[in-house]
Amino acid sequence: MADRQSVPKRVLALGATSAIAQATLRLLAEQRASFFLVGRNPEKLAAVRSDLLTRGATGAVTFSADLDDTASHPALLMKAVTDLGGIDIALLAHGVLGDQSAAERDYTSAEAILQTNFLSAVSLITWLANYFEAERRGTLAVISSVAGDRGRKSNYVYGASKGGLNIFLDGVRNRIDRAGVQVLTIKPGFVATPMTAHLAKNALFAEPAQVGRHIVRAIEKRKDVVYAPPFWGLIMLMVRSIPRRIFKKMNM
Ligand SMILES: NC(=O)c1ccc[n+]([C@@H]2O[C@H](COP(=O)([O-])OP(=O)(O)OC[C@H]3O[C@@H](n4cnc5c(N)ncnc54)[C@H](OP(=O)(O)O)[C@@H]3O)[C@@H](O)[C@H]2O)c1
Repeated sequence: MADRQSVPKRVLALGATSAIAQATLRLLAEQRASFFLVGRNPEKLAAVRSDLLTRGATGAVTFSADLDDTASHPALLMKAVTDLGGIDIALLAHGVLGDQSAAERDYTSAEAILQTNFLSAVSLITWLANYFEAERRGTLAVISSVAGDRGRKSNYVYGASKGGLNIFLDGVRNRIDRAGVQVLTIKPGFVATPMTAHLAKNALFAEPAQVGRHIVRAIEKRKDVVYAPPFWGLIMLMVRSIPRRIFKKMNM
């Protein structure tokens, strides 16, 4: 049997213009992967495409779509399967941080965060889980966040969107692992990307390239969950273990 890593992969990237996605895709390009790149900005997508081709990608197709439009997902995903000739790895990377204080005041702000981070992901994962289950192979890799591990006053709407995603992925994994499908929940901590450009940086921030390496390694090792970088697993273990009567009075 051919070595798993030596066979070029066919990769569907949803939210391909994300900084973390780009870092991950670059490593897969070096392994001669081919790509179907989905994002909502055609210029940014074209730049990602040419970057991947110069790094060794054997092919790259771009497709512009606002992933909030769940009705468009089945046609988009069918096109990805047709153009790539099948999907080996699907990476879901799109997401918004949103505005927590706006979301506290106004439900429509909260709904927008949940639509992008949770509902659109549920729509894509539902289709892809059925596709991979029927194929009896494949990797479904989804970028969630450490913020989904416990609700905090500073970002609980974003956290809820990612926490819901984590539970959904746990259930999907429990259903299709037995069909030979890897379902990988990716939990980055702070990463220096456009999403966090407005935040003051500290020692806990990682670079996208570092996170990309952890993602590719977790795919290769067929892990279920990866904290990126891994020290966030310990931090979140401590955060989760703080008793609720103390936690509710903390400023986090
Ligand atoms: N940065 C962090 O500290 C951090 C930590 C934990 C988890 N994450 C997660 O990591 C993932 C990637 O984020 P990032 O840090 O790489 O930030 P980023 O570079 O800002 O990427 C976010 C991406 O999501 C895309 N997007 C947002 N809404 C979309 C929509 N409706 N349709 C299509 N694409 C949409 C954006 O597209 P445009 O380019 O068109 O705006 C952008 O490419 C997200 O799921 C995020 O929640 C990030």
